Amino acid sequence: MCGIVGYCGPKKAADVLLEGLKRLEYRGYDSAGICVNNMGNLRTIKRTGKIKDLRNIVPVTFEGHTGIGHTRWATHGEVTDENAHPHSDDSEKIVLVHNGIIENYQTIKNKLIVEGHTFKSDTDSEVIAHLIASLYTGNLESAVKETVFLLKGTYGLAVMHKDIPDKIVGVRNGSPLVVGIGDSEMFLASDVTAIMAHTKQVIYLEDKELVVITPDSYKTFDFNEQELQKKVENIGWDLDQIEKDGYDYFMEKEIYEQPESILRAFVGRIDREGATGHLGGLNMTPAELINIKRIQIVAAGTSYYAGMVGAYLIESIARIPASTELASEVRYKNPVVQPDTLYFVVSQSGETADTLYAMKELQRKGARVLGVCNVVGSTIPRKSDGGVYIHSGPEIAVASTKAFTSQITVFYVLTLILARMRHLSFEEGIRIVSALESVPDKLREIFKDTNSIHDIAKRYSKYENFLFLGRGLNYSVALEGALKLKEISYIHAEGYSSAEIKHGPIALINENTPSLFLVPDDNLRDKVINNIKEVKARKGKVIAIAVKGDDEVAKIVDDVIWIPSADPLTYPYLMVVPLQLFAFYSAIELKRDVDQPRNLAKSVTVE
Ligand code: G6P
Repeated sequence: MCGIVGYCGPKKAADVLLEGLKRLEYRGYDSAGICVNNMGNLRTIKRTGKIKDLRNIVPVTFEGHTGIGHTRWATHGEVTDENAHPHSDDSEKIVLVHNGIIENYQTIKNKLIVEGHTFKSDTDSEVIAHLIASLYTGNLESAVKETVFLLKGTYGLAVMHKDIPDKIVGVRNGSPLVVGIGDSEMFLASDVTAIMAHTKQVIYLEDKELVVITPDSYKTFDFNEQELQKKVENIGWDLDQIEKDGYDYFMEKEIYEQPESILRAFVGRIDREGATGHLGGLNMTPAELINIKRIQIVAAGTSYYAGMVGAYLIESIARIPASTELASEVRYKNPVVQPDTLYFVVSQSGETADTLYAMKELQRKGARVLGVCNVVGSTIPRKSDGGVYIHSGPEIAVASTKAFTSQITVFYVLTLILARMRHLSFEEGIRIVSALESVPDKLREIFKDTNSIHDIAKRYSKYENFLFLGRGLNYSVALEGALKLKEISYIHAEGYSSAEIKHGPIALINENTPSLFLVPDDNLRDKVINNIKEVKARKGKVIAIAVKGDDEVAKIVDDVIWIPSADPLTYPYLMVVPLQLFAFYSAIELKRDVDQPRNLAKSVTVE
């Protein structure tokens, strides 16, 4: 998804911008560009493709100490050099980069065309540059402020003027923007990873806030031009944490990191003495928690499937009716909000537009909405009524892996708390605590031998369609496994409850459509085995993920991925990790761009 970097200071701006854009690559993009102001001389370079291609065409003579850069993920207009940012007005004095979508851009554009403006791109963003230019009378921040009053939609903007070589104006409404404070240098970025190599001191802008940066100063204002005193925060993550750590791919690194990242999600949150947990960030008293009659979880993508695991745990163990809904659907269905329902929005990035808007809609109706997020200081944690950080550390690969297992961990702890406040006995509580504590070591056991998963992925990567089948707690894991395979290998995969195949999907079964069954040794095992037999009877190839020693499964399927025997409550962890590896190895075999799969973005900040 689009990214912004801005720089004002003594360094060569082009270098800082290109480095910052490189750090934003993980968000997904299709084109990129920079503009620097060299003593009143603006120079812009932009093109489709990767940052390394852009870097290759930036001449060494590209001087200038103030500049803005952008990675674009096309929304309005095709992926072309012209549509890439930065954009400028006719006189080429105003230049800007923009994240978000301007809903009324066509009306404004038509009016500007009548006034004589000519446009070089099909983007909504270029319209903003022309509008600022038409309102400019010598004060850049005033022109920007007057402009945003005319815009409908979302924007994170960084704007420069040719005649003001050491100033950038940033403005935020619905698209994140952060100010980095350095030593005689200032930064702007849509995401802290772009600037954290230079500074850890940041200010998060809120919606309808504007900032003016120069090398030595920053001033923040609201849209009524009132100056604001904003809190300077310290970024907790290290840049080293973002490196690949010896692995070839971020996704691989993130898969293997899970024993530690899961631990970080529950460490300090378990109370063995009380056989319960603590989640301080919920901002709720025990009296408030006991009055909750229903829980609704709202999310998108992988976070949605983690939410499904959460809802299953809460309903089956804490005995509170719980369900999961797609954020994109919640916003427009005029949801019914009841006072005794507690809402959770789950989002790795904390910036997903669908999830954010769903949260706002629920809050508008009076709901109490808590966040389960990874990126500290992102919009959802700041705007929710409380919540829990999953502490996964930066997740760089577009396909989410460690965030999923940490999100479900938070739901295990939450379930424990809610269940222990109600009927769950001390002994049953301890069983959940022990189960959770056993997970990191069980995963390490799986990691000791991943060759068989690699080998199976290699042999099956020639197939074009897959079914992923699971039941109970592992139904959502099957959906997540299918999503992973689709996302990074581009193999078509559908996830279903294995009980459901007889209601339709079984029509697809033949020797060219393999099925991947999740077979834990729980109360539904025998039923899943019956489903496997139905598939085998129709000449379908079957891979099973099964518990070591389950010879009956081994006898009826074509290939088995073994997982250690464990408390059935923890099988979602032990099932999902082999599925992540299966998708990863399939993608490697097919020579896909594992960390940045086509058409996908890490953080989808448009609806
Ligand atoms: C995008 C990503 C997915 C992610 C989803 C939700 O589609 O490509 O990997 O699961 O957004 O993201 P969130 O940051 O809200 O968890």
